[in-house]
Amino acid sequence: MKKIILDCDPGHDDAIALLLAWGNPQIELLAVTTVVGNQTLDKVTRNALAVARIANITGVPFAAGCPRPLVRQIEVAPDIHGESGLDGPALPEPTLTLEPRHAVDLIIDTLMTHPPGSVTLVPTGGLTNIAMAVRKEPRIAERVKEVVLMGGGYHVGNWSAVAEFNIKIDPEAAHIVFNEKWPLTMVGLDLTHQALATPEVCERIAAIGTGPAHFVGELLEFFGKMYRQAQGFSAPPVHDPCAVAYVIDPEVMTVRKVPVDIELTGTLTLGMTVADFRAPPPPDCHTQVAVTLDQDRFWDLVVEALERIGEV
Ligand code: BDR
Ligand code: CA
Repeated sequence: MKKIILDCDPGHDDAIALLLAWGNPQIELLAVTTVVGNQTLDKVTRNALAVARIANITGVPFAAGCPRPLVRQIEVAPDIHGESGLDGPALPEPTLTLEPRHAVDLIIDTLMTHPPGSVTLVPTGGLTNIAMAVRKEPRIAERVKEVVLMGGGYHVGNWSAVAEFNIKIDPEAAHIVFNEKWPLTMVGLDLTHQALATPEVCERIAAIGTGPAHFVGELLEFFGKMYRQAQGFSAPPVHDPCAVAYVIDPEVMTVRKVPVDIELTGTLTLGMTVADFRAPPPPDCHTQVAVTLDQDRFWDLVVEALERIGEV
């Protein structure tokens, strides 16, 4: 089993990432933590709990984390995710109760109580909680198996010409996370723009015929409309599940080792993930970037997870 902590800001694609993690038999979901991002902390936390109810996720602690970035003002994304952060489907009242611990403490405690090298951190939002956790308990840097995050892009941006949302909203946190010596895989826009929920994909999901699959269909419909309006996409890129898919099956994408750092001072380039491809990576290079997605394999994982979740 692959043990993961999902740190997220649901968010349409975060919701699908959570369903993929819950529905895949190889993943053991140790904790779900939330962070300000696509919407305020209260909203994304409520959304995470609503998704838990839709898929009947039980036995997994959910904890709320940081309500604002380390240094910057809050920047949310209603143009993509709506006012609730998960607009489109009607959301049920959550039944799960939030864990009393702060997400940062839950992340630390989970990593420190599991064997070294056994837990993968999967952040799919801004990196505020993860940066706070490693500053509060630096030993987690050696404890973690790997950080596999959705964020950044070595050739493409979406929140500016060169910066991606998750990195741009808290670049100082991203700088901390990318400069820790843990193995880090950046599943960025270069990769996730290959994970488009085309009409064929949506038909496959609709054909599953269950409540959770219908919920995903409604999410994709809204997400698709917003991506068409805001960024001219013909079908929405489903970013966050790509990071979970890599943990499940590293063969689902190709990766390339390369040093990556975060721009903190550029007036036009704040939050850019600068990947230095000029030379072979140095022996101590601990970062790699995702390059090419096996699209069929990826969507098979999503569909299989929804089938496994079934009707709840
Ligand atoms: C990322 O930003 C958010 O809007 C999505 O949930 C995803 O994590 C894509 O840039
Ligand atoms: Ca997200």
